[in-house]
Amino acid sequence: MKTTQILSVAAAMAGPIAAQEICEQYGTITQGPYIINNNMWGMDSGTGSQCTTLDGGSDAGVAWHTTWTWSGGENSVKTYPNSGLVLEPKLVSDITSIPSTAEWSYDNTDIRADVAYDLFTAADINHVTYSGDYELMIWLGQYGEVGPIGSVIDSAEVGGQTWDIYNGPNGDMNVYSFVAAEPVTSFDTDIKEFFTYLTEKQSYPADQQYLLTVQFGTEPFTGGEATLTVKNWSASVA
Ligand SMILES: *[C@@H]1O[C@H](CO)[C@@H](O)[C@H](O)[C@H]1NC(C)=O
Repeated sequence: MKTTQILSVAAAMAGPIAAQEICEQYGTITQGPYIINNNMWGMDSGTGSQCTTLDGGSDAGVAWHTTWTWSGGENSVKTYPNSGLVLEPKLVSDITSIPSTAEWSYDNTDIRADVAYDLFTAADINHVTYSGDYELMIWLGQYGEVGPIGSVIDSAEVGGQTWDIYNGPNGDMNVYSFVAAEPVTSFDTDIKEFFTYLTEKQSYPADQQYLLTVQFGTEPFTGGEATLTVKNWSASVA
């Protein structure tokens, strides 16, 4: 009910908007080409709460923050509050560029969490958008003893940064995670370069995979109260 009201407010407004908070599971707010999601997919593995707020934005970028506290199930991801790009699936090999910027900060780093992009691709253009054949994660922040799926297969410079690259399975998904050694709190890149690396170095079939999602957010394991503030996130697909 609350979500419906918020959505209709968002739809009715043009230009700058007042802050809107969502605390319910999978509550969303749409802002131009962006969608904010209070995703709490793994919340049943622990105890806690989370609210996500749209602070403003335009077609050029979106500002939001999320405040959470989670305990229990210490090696399980609880949630993924995120900003995503509303997009039409497109074959990765037909994409020229995916320019994206992320400016963010955490007010409490005594937490076990990551700050990461999450992109899904699949051979089926109609695949559900909460998974894929492949998952590409870009970890800009890594706090506490948490790590990505799989093991390190390479270290490489991609999109202007050096990353440890992990690979492993998440159910049926083949996951590649690029992990920065230190938090990258001001990120400006072309995500297509990550797919180019995967295509050239890891036999990723770019001509058989549709890009389904481009999302940026945080995955809390345990800790808090902590607030991730995203001053500006932008992404587009060309
Ligand atoms: C957000 O980033 C985009 C892309 O760099 C930029 O065009 C836009 O002006 C930024 N917005 C703010 C509020 O800084």
